[in-house]
Amino acid sequence: MFFGSQKKDIIGVDIGSNSVKLVQLHETKGVYHLTALGVAPLPSDAIVDGAIMDSSAVVEVIDNLYKSLKLKTKNVATSISGHSVIIRKIKLPIMTEEEMEASIQWEAEQYIPFEISEVNLDFQILGPDAKDTSQMNVVLVAAKKDFVNDYISVFSECGLTPIVLDIDCFAMENAFEVNSQIDSQGVIALVNMGASSINMNVLKDGASIFTRDITVGGNMVNEELQKRLGLSAEDAEALKLGGTVDGIQRSAVDEVIREAMESLVQEVQRSLDFFSATASDDKIQAVYITGGVSRNPLAKELLSERLALPVDVLGAFGQVVIDEKNFDLEYIDAIGPLMSVAVGLAMRRLGDK
Ligand SMILES: Nc1ncnc2c1ncn2[C@@H]1O[C@H](COP(=O)(O)OP(=O)(O)OP(=O)(O)O)[C@@H](O)[C@H]1O
Ligand SMILES: [Mg+2]
Repeated sequence: MFFGSQKKDIIGVDIGSNSVKLVQLHETKGVYHLTALGVAPLPSDAIVDGAIMDSSAVVEVIDNLYKSLKLKTKNVATSISGHSVIIRKIKLPIMTEEEMEASIQWEAEQYIPFEISEVNLDFQILGPDAKDTSQMNVVLVAAKKDFVNDYISVFSECGLTPIVLDIDCFAMENAFEVNSQIDSQGVIALVNMGASSINMNVLKDGASIFTRDITVGGNMVNEELQKRLGLSAEDAEALKLGGTVDGIQRSAVDEVIREAMESLVQEVQRSLDFFSATASDDKIQAVYITGGVSRNPLAKELLSERLALPVDVLGAFGQVVIDEKNFDLEYIDAIGPLMSVAVGLAMRRLGDK
């Protein structure tokens, strides 16, 4: 007989292009308790389109975070996204997990635009198709091996073991499922607005039916501020976050920010319109936004205006118990939207798919 938990603690590490986020949760009787949390900025070109360009910078940041938080657990769950990751929902004749395992290479060939020998493949069987029960729905995931190996080596250089490799979209979905008490019936869209990418995941009755990543994000606001007001990168970020810079008028800054946010929101709308055009009778009923950009109230305002739908910011810690003796609740509240991918990862366990 086994006493204690077989579920090893794991640390969720979300390597974003703007910052690394780290979350550790401890689960007892189905309740998650926050045990560690950290955010550390990355240099601007360390991650480009989800790929690790400057591995020593990433190693240093993760290593420092680990040391400053005095973490012991070596097991890590991390996630990837970007153009090197392909997610496809496909229909196949009903088969078992084992049969699928044996034929995945063969099946994947027609859906994946890369050489099959150059990708890592994974799948999840969702279940029989509602319209044709001889078929089943499967999510196929392929990621370029080089791309994945770069992530794995960063962790091994830190002396850590990545035991779960997830996708940003699915980690966000996991955090949403566990944390929000929102009724999961109906069709809702989750939108993670980061610095250089936006991940979207549309759920129907709690299951993912559409995912899309686009390669624009909060950096676009900085680029516009720099270009139009002749600012340095540091000044643009400071102004974006509400600070002041000598000789620069707030009204001019606000105008550029609003326009850039309008374009970002338009990109989100375009992707969700694409979903609506392909999904005949699934209408999105509500949108939940997360990620650094969702901290700007304009994100919610402009998106709900444009989509004519209710939009809400999703905090990542809804159902997580946080001891105020160990954590600053105000700080956690403020950074909550940044942490949903890391929280979703921290809830993963070995063997999870
Ligand atoms: N209060 C705020 N107002 C506006 N923008 C903000 C605020 N806080 C953070 N941001 C912006 O959010 C972005 C960072 O968000 P996030 O941490 O989700 O990105 P990331 O995960 O590092 O990047 P990505 O996932 O795109 O690689 C940056 O562009 C940052 O300037
Ligand atoms: Mg991110």
